[in-house]
Amino acid sequence: MQYVAGNDRMGEEAKGTSFACVQASPCRAFMSSVDKTSRRRFDNLRGGRGNIARVVVPGSAIARRVAELAEEISACYDGREITILAVLTGSLVFLADLMRRLTMPLRIGVVSVSSYVGRAATAEAPRITIPLDGDLSGRDVLILDDILDSGRTLRALCDLVEKQNVASLKTCVLLRKNRPDLSDRPAVDFVGFGVGDEFVVGYGLDYDNLYRNLPDVCVLKGFADGVAGRCGREEVQ
Ligand code: IMP
Ligand code: MG
Repeated sequence: MQYVAGNDRMGEEAKGTSFACVQASPCRAFMSSVDKTSRRRFDNLRGGRGNIARVVVPGSAIARRVAELAEEISACYDGREITILAVLTGSLVFLADLMRRLTMPLRIGVVSVSSYVGRAATAEAPRITIPLDGDLSGRDVLILDDILDSGRTLRALCDLVEKQNVASLKTCVLLRKNRPDLSDRPAVDFVGFGVGDEFVVGYGLDYDNLYRNLPDVCVLKGFADGVAGRCGREEVQ
């Protein structure tokens, strides 16, 4: 089943949600700002709910979908032990909620991947900065990530894991960005929600390592056009 945030009932619910919106300078304005007053005001709001422009997926919808995903994954493995490889740091909240709903025996491993986000065709391959740990051969491996954007992270990780003689390899992301400009993204076995091509934070996803603790997936003020998320800075995910 496909879930697309913004198109279904959950999206309507998101639109209806009201927030304590505080007048703040947008992020892009902040970056180039010469106005010290608004800059200070923005700093005060960094990491807080005051800088949220819009909720894309409310926490209540995430909880429902995570429960469904757990059922889909449990049914797929039919009681077999699995090894979840969670991509730090964005998938931590998702991992914590999902793993407690999975019924089969499972092992957890974490990997850390850093990449230069979105540098067109010359982009370097993502670097695995916390390597795979332990012997994966013969194991049923499920890679878990927060969001599929370009797909480079997942592809790099799958390539690495596939070399380890695993019994099976499947992938799961909470969010899959709609990127009609990219035709060769890796297929993902389990997807929580489809979202638009814009930079989102919350439920583990960050901007500058902030906002991970927001219970909802949100768009920040000044990030509504999807450009700021692909600004070419190195990011530890
Ligand atoms: P990909 O390699 O382009 O698919 O990027 C995947 C990684 O980039 C994710 O695991 C995230 O850590 C990060 N990322 C991509 N889009 C977003 C976003 O909208 N918000 C926060 N992090 C993102
Ligand atoms: Mg990530």
